[in-house]
Amino acid sequence: MSEFNVCLLAGDGIGPEIIAEGVKVLNAVGEKYGTTFKYTEALIGGCAIDATGSPLPEQTLEAAKASDAVLLAAVGGPKWDTTDSTKPRPEQGLLAIRKELGLYTNLRPVQIFNALAGASTLKPEVIDGVDLVIVRELTGGLYFGQRNRYYDEPGAGANGAPGQRAVDTLEYREYEVERIARQAFEAARTRRGRVHSIDKANVLDTSRMWREVVHRIHDQEYPDVELIDMLVDNTAMQLINWPKQFDVVVTENMFGDILSDEAAQITGSLGMLASASLGDGVSLYEPSHGSAPDIAGKGIANPIAQILSVGMMLQYSFGMTEAAADITRAITEVLDEGWRTGDIKDDTTPAEKVVGTVQMGDLIVSHL
Ligand code: IPM
Ligand code: MG
Repeated sequence: MSEFNVCLLAGDGIGPEIIAEGVKVLNAVGEKYGTTFKYTEALIGGCAIDATGSPLPEQTLEAAKASDAVLLAAVGGPKWDTTDSTKPRPEQGLLAIRKELGLYTNLRPVQIFNALAGASTLKPEVIDGVDLVIVRELTGGLYFGQRNRYYDEPGAGANGAPGQRAVDTLEYREYEVERIARQAFEAARTRRGRVHSIDKANVLDTSRMWREVVHRIHDQEYPDVELIDMLVDNTAMQLINWPKQFDVVVTENMFGDILSDEAAQITGSLGMLASASLGDGVSLYEPSHGSAPDIAGKGIANPIAQILSVGMMLQYSFGMTEAAADITRAITEVLDEGWRTGDIKDDTTPAEKVVGTVQMGDLIVSHL
């Protein structure tokens, strides 16, 4: 009988509520497939700042490294919002754990559940059959470049008055582009064989290098895969205009962050988008959405993105492909029966079919 250690990082806001449903589902999978999951809980984000002063305490990093996989919920909230660059922010915990674990590949699959067609703001014929994955570079670019704020620089403000200057650096190394390109081409080979590489090569040097490197890797190693270059602004438009054209979308960190929120709306809600962050060691699984502080503690958050992230964990970290498919099937059945959380209901949803976080988790478990 196999046994896996999972490090649980609930974080802030709705984090504790949704991760509880993820664990519930994981335990149900364990029972069904004869696998034992053991858990270690640790602090990250705002709650970690409150308890230790650091958004990623050393103990948390150790627990993550010692585990077989990390399940994270969400970090952040108004309590820790500040524009003071010297104060710790919850998001720094997330960025630090991605960097420390070397999680350079972030997979964000956008899959449509037919029952939710009415929850999207797009027309049914536009979203019907959409099946794409965003491959986001996760440990480089603007997120990890040098930043600085200069104060009181004489003459920098209006009319020669003292002003401020702020700088963020967008930097990529060739090997960082090579390895994420390979991840995208590998993914495409298991899917429909098409990669859109997204950049801003009409303006940025990082994008020009990105484009060259992606093409070299393609021509040398993956000539069987179709490769299409697309500028990021055009991609933002194409994603809502005709999302079916996309199979694998590979892009740098910041573009990927923005495009994945947009792509989530094709499904009707950010509450449906799971993600896997992979590197050369322990992997991390988290919903693509945030900590939704406005609905925290109310028991109404949608746990599906978290539960789909559990599915990705089973697939990528534990090789339990059948169990992962089982989770998607269970969610599909629950949605087909008409059950909805508040974020994915529409005008046709009867009030008695609108359920809370715990009930949604229970329904999914019952279908497993
Ligand atoms: C995401 C989030 C994070 C990001 C934030 C919380 C730092 O938006 O995972 O997409 O920008 O990567
Ligand atoms: Mg984001």
